[in-house]
Amino acid sequence: MSHSLTSVFQKIDTLKPQFFSRLTKAIQIPAVSSDESLRPKVFDKAKFISEQLSQSGFHDIKMVDLGIQPPPISTPNLSLPPVILSRFGDDPSKKTVLVYGHYDVQPAQLEDGWDTEPFKLVIDEAKGIMKGRGVTDDTGPLLSWINVVDAFKASGQEFPVNLVTCFEGMEESGSLKLDELIKKEANGYFKGVDAVCISDNYWLGTKKPVLTYGLRGCNYYQTIIEGPSADLHSGIFGGVVAEPMIDLMQVLGSLVDSRGKILIDGIDEMVAPLTEKEKALYKDIEFSVEELNAATGSKTSLYDKKEDILMHRWRYPSLSIHGVEGAFSAQGAKTVIPAKVFGKFSIRTVPDMDSEKLTSLVQKHCDAKFKSLNSPNKCRTELIHDGAYWVSDPFNAQFTAAKKATKLVYGVDPDFTREGGSIPITLTFQDALNTSVLLLPMGRGDDGAHSINEKLDISNFVGGMKTMAAYLQYYSESPEN
Ligand code: BES
Ligand code: MN
Ligand code: MN
Repeated sequence: MSHSLTSVFQKIDTLKPQFFSRLTKAIQIPAVSSDESLRPKVFDKAKFISEQLSQSGFHDIKMVDLGIQPPPISTPNLSLPPVILSRFGDDPSKKTVLVYGHYDVQPAQLEDGWDTEPFKLVIDEAKGIMKGRGVTDDTGPLLSWINVVDAFKASGQEFPVNLVTCFEGMEESGSLKLDELIKKEANGYFKGVDAVCISDNYWLGTKKPVLTYGLRGCNYYQTIIEGPSADLHSGIFGGVVAEPMIDLMQVLGSLVDSRGKILIDGIDEMVAPLTEKEKALYKDIEFSVEELNAATGSKTSLYDKKEDILMHRWRYPSLSIHGVEGAFSAQGAKTVIPAKVFGKFSIRTVPDMDSEKLTSLVQKHCDAKFKSLNSPNKCRTELIHDGAYWVSDPFNAQFTAAKKATKLVYGVDPDFTREGGSIPITLTFQDALNTSVLLLPMGRGDDGAHSINEKLDISNFVGGMKTMAAYLQYYSESPEN
């Protein structure tokens, strides 16, 4: 190992208490982007992060206002959280790496089944884990870029690249309006960026590190069915009025079957066919149905073979039904007829699906199904947000540097994987900045992002920071971009 990395790694180890404290403060802020009432907290978290950047010596810090959140939305004139742009270093002889992360998080409540308060970071050194909403997705990795700068500085080593940050607060809600900003700043704030690195994904399993070169996209919809002007007593009106929930259950039930097959006409035809070359790639990936079962805490896998699981996660679309807004969902037995219900579902998209065409197929399907019900209620289906899929070529200078970094820290070559999840802005970075994008994961496949008891292993936190540091070092030394 080069002398400089040895001392940076030592500093990462010794500065651990400071990194824990920074993470503890950040996790405390419930920056849930999908909850309109919590929007002020998302702003608070942005402020906290900008203070950290400033303390660590980043400069040119800008909190970019993206304006008002576009519809559909319940709160009028709700401001979008700021995008945090900043720089560390401005040396024309060095390469420039843009790091993207998101500081917003998924909703979480103790009642969902958490063992501890979700917005209070638990650091359990004996078990080797940290637990709290956002610890792995994506607050831990985001702050780690700042931590890595601290470690270089503390070691007295020269920082190998110019770093540019782009941290957003709406990722979990579709990265609204971020596209426009990136296109606009391509020749402004982001001028001269050589590479983009995103640390917002996970190892496939629990043991082997990976580097990621693909993501699925996500088109998120709601079907709104309205009938009576207010919720009604089912004893008085049951059997007499057309119930929106009854209609909605049938529309939602017509989208997909219990084996995961999407029942909307025309979708299969858009999916790129599987080639022999691609098929061969799945064989060497380390993964098993047992690992999937361990991550879900169940035996609910639809497939037994590793290849089938991975293909259905990475290269085929899926449709999930998420919930119903407006319906009764509390404990007990309330005899109510909900008057207006919003059925939420999303489709993970893959090459070569076209988002607009998909939306028109979805709307056509839902409209036709509703029409067949012969209901006097009103029904419409709308797109809430869409984020593009992304697949890149993993044989470039960035991936090579990250592979070497991973090997240095974990002692093994990483697997090259795709992901089933989505980071809507990835393709925009690649196209608008004309650079390659690397997905460099920190956490593990069983971290429970979006779930209860979200965790990050301390060894992954520390190993992840070291991997980031080594990647920047090796990338800076590589002869090409
Ligand atoms: N970090 C995830 C993306 C991800 C998920 C990567 C799973 C790898 C595996 C990100 O924060 C996320 O949750 N994205 C949303 C985007 C959506 C709202 C458009 C997602 O995938 O649901
Ligand atoms: Mn994330
Ligand atoms: Mn997420």
